[in-house]
Amino acid sequence: MCGIIGYLGKRNTADVLTEGLKRLEYRGYDSAGIAVFHNDRIEIRRTEGKLAVLEEMISKESFNGATGIGHTRWATHGRPSDANAHPHKAGRIAVVHNGIIENYLPLKRGLEKKGHIFNSETDSEVISHLINDFIEQGLSFEESVRKALHELKGSYALGIMFEGNQEKLIGARNESPLVVGLGDGELFIASDTPAVLNYTRDFIFLEDGQMVVLSDGKATVKDLSGKTAKAEPRHLDWNPLMAEKGGYKHFMLKEIFEQPEAIINTIRGRVSREEGTISFENFSLKKKEIDNLKRIAIVACGTSFHAATVGKFMIETLAGIPVDVDIGSEFRYRDPVIGKGTLVVVISQSGETADTRAALREGKRKGCLSLAICNVVESSIARESDHVIYTHAGPEIGVASTKAFVTQLVALYLLALYLAVGKGRVDARKVQKLLAELIRIPGLAKDLLRNASDYQKLARKYAYARNFLYLGRGINYPIALEGALKLKEISYIHAEGYPAGEMKHGPIALIDKEMPVVVLVADDDVRDKVMGNIEEVRARDGILIALASANHQEVRQKADEVISIPQTTPLLSPILFTIPLQLLAYYVADFKGNDVDQPRNLAKSVTVE
Ligand code: AGP
Repeated sequence: MCGIIGYLGKRNTADVLTEGLKRLEYRGYDSAGIAVFHNDRIEIRRTEGKLAVLEEMISKESFNGATGIGHTRWATHGRPSDANAHPHKAGRIAVVHNGIIENYLPLKRGLEKKGHIFNSETDSEVISHLINDFIEQGLSFEESVRKALHELKGSYALGIMFEGNQEKLIGARNESPLVVGLGDGELFIASDTPAVLNYTRDFIFLEDGQMVVLSDGKATVKDLSGKTAKAEPRHLDWNPLMAEKGGYKHFMLKEIFEQPEAIINTIRGRVSREEGTISFENFSLKKKEIDNLKRIAIVACGTSFHAATVGKFMIETLAGIPVDVDIGSEFRYRDPVIGKGTLVVVISQSGETADTRAALREGKRKGCLSLAICNVVESSIARESDHVIYTHAGPEIGVASTKAFVTQLVALYLLALYLAVGKGRVDARKVQKLLAELIRIPGLAKDLLRNASDYQKLARKYAYARNFLYLGRGINYPIALEGALKLKEISYIHAEGYPAGEMKHGPIALIDKEMPVVVLVADDDVRDKVMGNIEEVRARDGILIALASANHQEVRQKADEVISIPQTTPLLSPILFTIPLQLLAYYVADFKGNDVDQPRNLAKSVTVE
């Protein structure tokens, strides 16, 4: 959940590090720090708080060293403070770390017995002491790192500097992501590609249990026995601009407005309307495999879990295969009844969420076929799964997921159609009809985005509310959950998403004239039931904000506010209902002056359990 970066080259090292950390700050922003060589010594500058505090601190300094490492922190062990900020230096070794060292206490006690003095409460500091201890025993920099890594238990992405050699930088990964950027006469390590997209698009994606030695202009990947490993560089077609705000006030707003294009990119090259077929680059199942599919288990966390719940409706409706949906952190601890004949589908924007990754491993351990739906290319979950469907949403920087969610719904719709064709449940004509409806969605999404100022007015009118209730039924119940999550995570207003029919069994007690109740009224077979729930809210003077996709007249008479949703099929309606809810949450949070892109207590990818 932290972001790390490392650089070896001729540019101003401190600038490269802070620029990169700026693009990693969505991973955590409790403290920041850099270590750079200056006059052959490692200088450390670090501070509690956002990167801007560090930038201010070093603004009047210059360092002449060619090598450096940097870190932006999401606190796990030890509260946000200067002492707990990274880099951690012990003797001649400086380290930045993302992850959790599970056996740090026994290691620390062992080193303290040898006279080591620790200055922080972190688990990470033990790594610098451990490596330095081997250095003091006369081992080489690389050998000392390898020895130390053998003693560590847990997850780590590391950037390591040695005061004895400023021409060498070492990186290592286990469980936490680390990429190596191959520039022209310069080399980088980073937690994520956007950090160095400015300088290169050629990357090596390290595997678990690998380390990389950057020196003499080359990056040598090795396993922990010291054997050189084959590592194919990948060229990414993402450009730095994609990681810029492009004139929007926040990344989240930019990413909401990028959804029509993201939807098109996720469909592109995967459907043939002429033939009524669907295909994926990194996923295909033989007819026999589809016929033997008895069950699908979809597992994910947060917003991705809401997509999973919509996916259940799409797959069961179109392909007729029974689908379970599970929350990642619950899945493996309930010993799920799965095995051969079960396809485990894991959904993750970042592809690094530890709970979802653990669920994937549980599914594989039980002999299930696995498919990942991920946005970050070559992420851990994507590479560990048997198959992967990438959502082509591009880099998502805002912590609150928006365009990645909508492209997950598109990918699930295509997956449902693919399985339905494989099961022979739909013929080419039916597929052409269902694809024709999908192709209309980007245009309809654009229409919705044109009304953004209306949603802004609405948001400002109700931004004072202390609680919100979101109600939906059927395939739009998960969208009520998503609307509530978006509002909670960026506006800090308590909000609850609930199945509309379930409201009378409890939450209806919360409703009074102060409570905005957002109701999703889709044009599907539960519409009349939802209209009944609207009556129940009106009877308790709740403030009714209705999103309605047809016959607005009837809804307009009953609701205080109405947001019109363009007509589409019930299976695709969740995509259109989502967009105004994202903007409602965004404008409430922006109106309250919150840090929308980096909401408190959150991080973009949660890489610890
Ligand atoms: C959503 O806005 C949040 N950022 C969070 O709930 C997120 O969806 C969850 O952490 C899962 O992340 P993933 O899709 O990268 O696995």
